[in-house]
Amino acid sequence: MKRTVTAMLFAALALAGAAASAQDEEKAPYRPTPREVVERMLELARVGPGDYVVDLGSGDGRIVLTAAKKYGARGLGVEIDRGLVRDARAAAVREGVADRARFEVQDLFETDLTDVTVLTLYLLPEMNRRLAPKILAQMKPGTRVVSQEWGIGDWAPDVQEIVAGTEDFTGWVKQRGVFLWIVPARIAGLWQLERDGAAGSLRLDLVQSYQNVEPREGTTGASFAPLRGAAVRFRVPPPSPFAGDYAGVAEGGTMRGEFVAPGGATGAWRATRRAEGSR
Ligand SMILES: C[S@@+](CC[C@H](N)C(=O)[O-])C[C@H]1O[C@@H](n2cnc3c(N)ncnc32)[C@H](O)[C@@H]1O
Repeated sequence: MKRTVTAMLFAALALAGAAASAQDEEKAPYRPTPREVVERMLELARVGPGDYVVDLGSGDGRIVLTAAKKYGARGLGVEIDRGLVRDARAAAVREGVADRARFEVQDLFETDLTDVTVLTLYLLPEMNRRLAPKILAQMKPGTRVVSQEWGIGDWAPDVQEIVAGTEDFTGWVKQRGVFLWIVPARIAGLWQLERDGAAGSLRLDLVQSYQNVEPREGTTGASFAPLRGAAVRFRVPPPSPFAGDYAGVAEGGTMRGEFVAPGGATGAWRATRRAEGSR
């Protein structure tokens, strides 16, 4: 029952979204995220003192200010409206976090995302969609993206929730979707896998769509769990001499980890990329 209600809520939010997206695709108006939703977004992304949180279209700065004040993170808010940037900077001084929370007047499409560990978005669907290739190209595997109200094109979130939030301008309590994505490692391409106790190597030719990975048709019967950042898990079925459950980590042109064979034997595996693929 709970699941049905949740599905209906997401469907209703999606319908509302379709109407709004037709109105204005490129310039999100200023609408602050309700405080309860800010808290939940930062919790879902597990923000901590080691994080660098960037809010694209930062409004009055509440997301970055909360990340700095409550979670000890560093942050940057990027905003096109100079008045809002002035207000956010003043709030950072008032709240004693000006050393960790910065605000800049900037077009969010120009912002460099290379060092960002948590990206927060409350924009419009088309803006999110436009940002997707840059997020995937610049943010590192395992970094997180949180959005409220809207998804990011056809990139399925890793986690989604409905959260009730009180709107600042109207005082109405509204349900909103909150979405979390974990930036996946890029593992598309041709790999050669070797493991303890097996002669030769296994050829894995992988295609990737966001966090979803599968072998190119006809290469092997391996099945992959969705990537969680750089964490890789897959199964190779018998009768392959490489049959087993594999878990490991991808880093650049290498993947390595541990496997459990069908009989229970365990060992180490390592794969090397021979050719890059697209995703
Ligand atoms: C819906 S508000 C979200 C504010 C804040 N992130 C929050 O969640 O409370 C979107 C903000 O994005 C800003 N914005 C829209 N287009 C922008 C652009 N191209 N570059 C920078 N900021 C932009 C708007 O001025 C607005 O303040």
